[in-house]
Amino acid sequence: MSIVQPGWSDEIEILRRESLDQLVALATIVEAAEWESTFLGPKGRVTLLLRGLSKLPVEERPLAGRAAQLLRNELATAFEPVQDRIRTESLKARLATDAVDVSLPGRVPTIGAAHPISTMIDELVQIFALLGFQAVFGPEVETARYNFDLLNIPADHPARDVWDTIHVETDGEEIVLRTHTSPMQARTMERIRPPVRVIVPGIAFRFESQDASHEWQFTQLEGLAVDRNITLADLKGTLQELARQLFGPERRIRLRCDYFPFVEPGVDFAVDCAICEGRGCRVCKHTGWLEMGGAGMVHPSVLRGVGYDPDEVSGFAFGLGIDRLAMMKYAVDDLRAFANNDIRFIRDFARAIG
Ligand code: FA5
Repeated sequence: MSIVQPGWSDEIEILRRESLDQLVALATIVEAAEWESTFLGPKGRVTLLLRGLSKLPVEERPLAGRAAQLLRNELATAFEPVQDRIRTESLKARLATDAVDVSLPGRVPTIGAAHPISTMIDELVQIFALLGFQAVFGPEVETARYNFDLLNIPADHPARDVWDTIHVETDGEEIVLRTHTSPMQARTMERIRPPVRVIVPGIAFRFESQDASHEWQFTQLEGLAVDRNITLADLKGTLQELARQLFGPERRIRLRCDYFPFVEPGVDFAVDCAICEGRGCRVCKHTGWLEMGGAGMVHPSVLRGVGYDPDEVSGFAFGLGIDRLAMMKYAVDDLRAFANNDIRFIRDFARAIG
């Protein structure tokens, strides 16, 4: 653009039309800001036009100066309502998209529920707390020393095969996935002196085929009491109380001889079926009894192995299957239901036990 040439009034007119044409097409705040800087800004075209007037012949300058100033005022005046309109529209658009409708009903969050086995563990921990037992926890990956040796099951003992062990490490120190919660017997006794009263809820693993009452991973509850003058009657009383607390005050228990290398004598224990009152039904497989687990008086070799004197103290231990207990308590006929992650089962279950 050359203002020094005589056609300055044409140039002003061209600038005027061009800027006003562009002004009516402005739609966004960014476009408006660009237009303002292009035409009216400190380095804008109208400002440059005004500066260029100094190069005009002296007699033309006043007229040209007034015309250019008029153009500046006209554009500034025209720009103001356009800018206001664009700002209002953009605010409206933002309010429309960002709007929060406070009258809409809220989304109800899904509330989680405890797993049936966790519920069962909580219940067992509470029952045993009232009987003076403290809950302790131990490693799931265990040395053969605690899983077998200190439980009176040396490496060449045939009973070692009974546990269908999953081995983790066989070179050097033998490491296994614990096959029961009993390793915590020795671990606890090594740590504290009698009196001992602990329960151990936890997972155990066995290389077994799965069916309605067997999983390769399952949950057990170990119990151990060691003190002066503990007898089989104490074991019986404790298991009797457990059965009554879990299944009702009418329940009776049955102890039968069984063999576990770490107890002497050893028993298996059962509770009379609460569903058929001992008459026989599908749940108790028509025997009238529901098997709960193994138990017995802690073997003197086990006591000696942890530095206790079997002439001074005696103790009882028991181990029960929590999954099977939960099956009985909640009338679930396949324990695989506890592990196959069917959310409908967990929800139904949570609803049923509130
Ligand atoms: C034991 O594991 C002994 N440690 C129990 C014990 C402890 C005896 C202290 C004496 C003194 P057993 O292998 O019988 O014993 O298992 C105990 C209970 O665990 C069984 O009655 C059963 O309820 C549960 N159980 C065992 N194997 C499985 C399995 N594969 N799936 C589900 N539950 C199982």
